[in-house]
Amino acid sequence: MKPATIILHREFTIGEVDNRLYGAFIEHLGRAIYGGLYEPDHPSADGDGFRQDVLDLVRELNVPVVRYPGGNFVSGYNWEDGVGDKGRRPRRLDLAWKTVETNQFGTDEFMDWTKKAKTQAMMAINLGTRGVNSARQLVEYCNHSGGTTWSDLRISHGYPDPHKIPIWCLGNEMDGNWQIGHKTAAEYGRLAQESAKVMRWIDPTIELIVCGSSHRGMDTYIDWETTVLDYTYDLVDYLSLHTYFGNRADNTPNFLAMSVGMDAFIEEVIATCDYVKAKKRSSKKMMLAFDEWNVWFHSNEDDRKIEPWSIAPPQLEDVYSFEDALVVGCMLISLIKHADRVKIGCIAQLVNVIAPIMTQNGGGIYRQTIFYPYLHASTYGRGIALDLNLKSPTYEDSTFGQVPYLESVAVWNPEAEKLTIFAVNRNLDQGLSLIGDLRDFEDYRIMSHTVLEHENLKAFNSFDHPDEVKPQAYGGTEVKNGQLEGVLLKASWNVILLEQNKH
Ligand code: AHR
Repeated sequence: MKPATIILHREFTIGEVDNRLYGAFIEHLGRAIYGGLYEPDHPSADGDGFRQDVLDLVRELNVPVVRYPGGNFVSGYNWEDGVGDKGRRPRRLDLAWKTVETNQFGTDEFMDWTKKAKTQAMMAINLGTRGVNSARQLVEYCNHSGGTTWSDLRISHGYPDPHKIPIWCLGNEMDGNWQIGHKTAAEYGRLAQESAKVMRWIDPTIELIVCGSSHRGMDTYIDWETTVLDYTYDLVDYLSLHTYFGNRADNTPNFLAMSVGMDAFIEEVIATCDYVKAKKRSSKKMMLAFDEWNVWFHSNEDDRKIEPWSIAPPQLEDVYSFEDALVVGCMLISLIKHADRVKIGCIAQLVNVIAPIMTQNGGGIYRQTIFYPYLHASTYGRGIALDLNLKSPTYEDSTFGQVPYLESVAVWNPEAEKLTIFAVNRNLDQGLSLIGDLRDFEDYRIMSHTVLEHENLKAFNSFDHPDEVKPQAYGGTEVKNGQLEGVLLKASWNVILLEQNKH
C-alpha cells in the first residue's frame, strides 16, 4: 500500500483554534450532577458537596467551557426552583428523562463548581415551556450587579458579585418532537429573536448561540437553519450543531468513517450560514458551536429498563470501547479541521452520562477510553490549525464512498514553537506508512509520539481494570532531512509532538 503523505507549512493555515473548541456539557440527567459533580456524602466531597476526585479529572482535561443545565432537561426547567434555601426547593417531574428532579443543585451551585473546575459557564435558557420573560429574569439574576428584584435575589442567596456568564444558548434542539415545547422553525426563530434582543438589552456583552438542527438526518435540516437565521442572523453569534455516532450494525470500518459525515455536516451548515449572509448583504460571518458531540449507543437498551420517576438513575451510562476512542479522535480532528468556523465544541457529556469520566456512587472513578483523545486534543491542540494537503490510500464504504485510512490535522503553537500532529489510522489490519514534508519546520525535532492502541477493538476500562486501554509511548516516527517518516500502527490514535530544536 502507498504511504499517506502530509505537508506541514506555516503558511498553510486553516485558522486559529479557539480554546473553547475543547468544551464539555453537563445536564440534569441521570448521575451527571447527582453522583457526578455533586455528592455531599462522598468521602472526597468538599464543603459544597462537590466530588474532589471528579474535579481533579476535570481539571486534568483543562475544560475551557461547560454548557449547562441541558439538553432536553432545560426545555421544562424553572431555574427559580434551583436557587435559594435547599430545604425549600421543590421536587419536580422531569418529563424529558422521566425522572424526579430534587433541585439540590442549581445555577449558583453550578457557578461555584465552575470556579473550582477552572472553567467557564455556558448557560442554556428554557425556550420550550418558557420564553422572553424568564430569559430576561435569569440574565438579570446572573449578570446584573444589583439594585433590582432578580439581582438582589442573587445577592440575598450569598452572591454579591454577578456571575457574569458570557455565553448563552437560546434553548435546546427545538426542531425535535421529543423536545418539551417543540416548535416550528418560524415559531422558534421569532422566539429566539425576541429573547436574544432583551437578553442583550440587559447585558450587551453576552454571546448567543441559536439552535440549529438536532442532527444532519432531521427532515427539516437546512430549511430549519435558513428560517431560524432569517430571524436571528444579526442578533446571534453562533449556530449550534449536534451529532452522536454509534456502531449499531457492528461494522467498524463504517463506524470509523462517520467523521466524514461530520465534516460534510459542518460544511453544509457553513454554506447555509453564508447563503443567509449573502441574502441579507451582511458583512457578519456566522460562527458555529458544535455544542453536543460524542459516541452514544451502548446504553440505549439498558435505559429502556429504568424505572420511571427515579431520582438520578444510571441513565445513558455508555461504557466506551477502544474503537469508540478512535471515533472520538476522528471527531476531534474534524472539529480542528474546521477551526476557522467552529469556535465552540462541547463533548456530551462530562461525567457518567455518555462521558469520559465514570464514577461509582460513594466509590471510585476511572477514565474511560474516550478520555484520552479528548485530553490530548485539549492539551496539545491549542494554536493555529494547519491544512495538511493530506493524501491517503482509501477503502470503500457503502455510506461514505472512498474513505481515507489516514485522518489527520496539525496544530502549531508559534509562541511555544511546538507542533502537534493528531492522526488516526482507520486501517484495522495493517500499519500505515506516513511521510510528512517538514521543510518549513526543518529545525523541529520529535519530542514524543504517543499512541492509543489495543489488540481488541472492543476493549474497555472499568473500575476493576481502569488502565486496560491507555496511551503508550511509541518510537515509530523520526525526522530525517526535513521529512517525517513513520508507521502508524493499525487501528490507532496518534499524537506526534514536535518542538523547535533550541541548540
Ligand atoms: O446529551 C443527551 C441528549 O442528547 C441531550 O439532552 C439532547 O440535547 C440530545 O438529544
